[in-house]
Amino acid sequence: MDETHVDGDLVEVLFTEEQIQQRLAELAAEVQRDYAGEDLLIVGVLKGAVMVMADLARTFERHVEMDWMAVSSYGSGTKSSGVVRILKDLDTDINGRHVLIVEDIIDTGLTLSWLVSNLNSRGPASVEICALLRKPDALQMTVDVKYVGYDIPNAFVVGYGLDYAERYRNLRCIGTLAPAVYS
Ligand code: IMP
Repeated sequence: MDETHVDGDLVEVLFTEEQIQQRLAELAAEVQRDYAGEDLLIVGVLKGAVMVMADLARTFERHVEMDWMAVSSYGSGTKSSGVVRILKDLDTDINGRHVLIVEDIIDTGLTLSWLVSNLNSRGPASVEICALLRKPDALQMTVDVKYVGYDIPNAFVVGYGLDYAERYRNLRCIGTLAPAVYS
């Protein structure tokens, strides 16, 4: 492990770097198959999706365009409310385009369901979602997630783009944060 600077901060490593890369390669193969012959724009949701975007895009053996959005969800504590504000919008006009939203994690799904309807109002050819992680609460959401890396238990996880107070995003693995860190 190269994660010695966070020794003790993680209760458990859920996914190693190798496991993440392996699963992303499988997802990328599915995406490539489904969008064969189509133009594709992948949209990363800042900041959490940076690592997934970078690795997914580099796994593709096809042309792909990348764009980014930053949104902030008004919520209390750690749960989002579904009321979303756009901090950075797309640079791209998605009218008639096939759009794949790339996310690190879906928790309640509220942010993503808002984002999907927002993007759908812009006249795209299609809007689908690819999320590396999905928590149980998300299973109740009304938005279909076409590509899911892993379903995980309802614990707070960090690493590989996911943060706690802006830390841990740069870990190569994904792990469960020790309660002592945030108490
Ligand atoms: P949702 O609207 O509840 O689905 O919110 C999803 C967002 O909450 C993600 O994009 C993350 O930024 C954040 N989030 C949810 N669960 C976790 C977690 O376990 N660790 C870090 N961030 C999380």
